[in-house]
Amino acid sequence: MAETLVINKNLSQQEIYDSLLRQLNSLINADEPLISNLANVTAALKNTFEKISWVGFYLLKNGKLYLGPFQGKVACTVIEIGKGVCGNSAARKETIIVNDVDLFPGHIVCDNGSRSEIVIPLMKDEKIFGVLDLDSYQLSAFNETDKHYLEILSKTLIQKLSFERIVL
Ligand code: SME
Repeated sequence: MAETLVINKNLSQQEIYDSLLRQLNSLINADEPLISNLANVTAALKNTFEKISWVGFYLLKNGKLYLGPFQGKVACTVIEIGKGVCGNSAARKETIIVNDVDLFPGHIVCDNGSRSEIVIPLMKDEKIFGVLDLDSYQLSAFNETDKHYLEILSKTLIQKLSFERIVL
């Protein structure tokens, strides 16, 4: 993956995502390790959107989600399928937007300051490989536009990279 990312933060949310995804698309390098690519994706997201307090991947290994590349404060390292927002997203195989984490039963607190969250599953042909988790200190920080573009990002990652060979 190359090392530059140019984002004009004065653009609309949609235009910023268009620009970000276009650049990530050409920067993701399938010949380089999965973890290296995912690490840069988290950095790109964290540096593009000020509303993000934490962004990272939880990757499936032996039936549990383990902390992968992330940006932000230290976080819990293992999440059971069906637990928390991440485990629910993996179990339901769908994106979950949580406008107020205090209202999500079973939400797993990694940072007391976190107020809202979006979790996008990483899956191919209904098989789950992990989730992408974004947190914010703002209530209702994530909307349908985030969902739309982050699902495209998730599909791009699954198509381009070899999640079958996850080494954790
Ligand atoms: N809040 C998540 C746990 C992961 S941290 O937010 C980084 C959850 O409920 O699954």
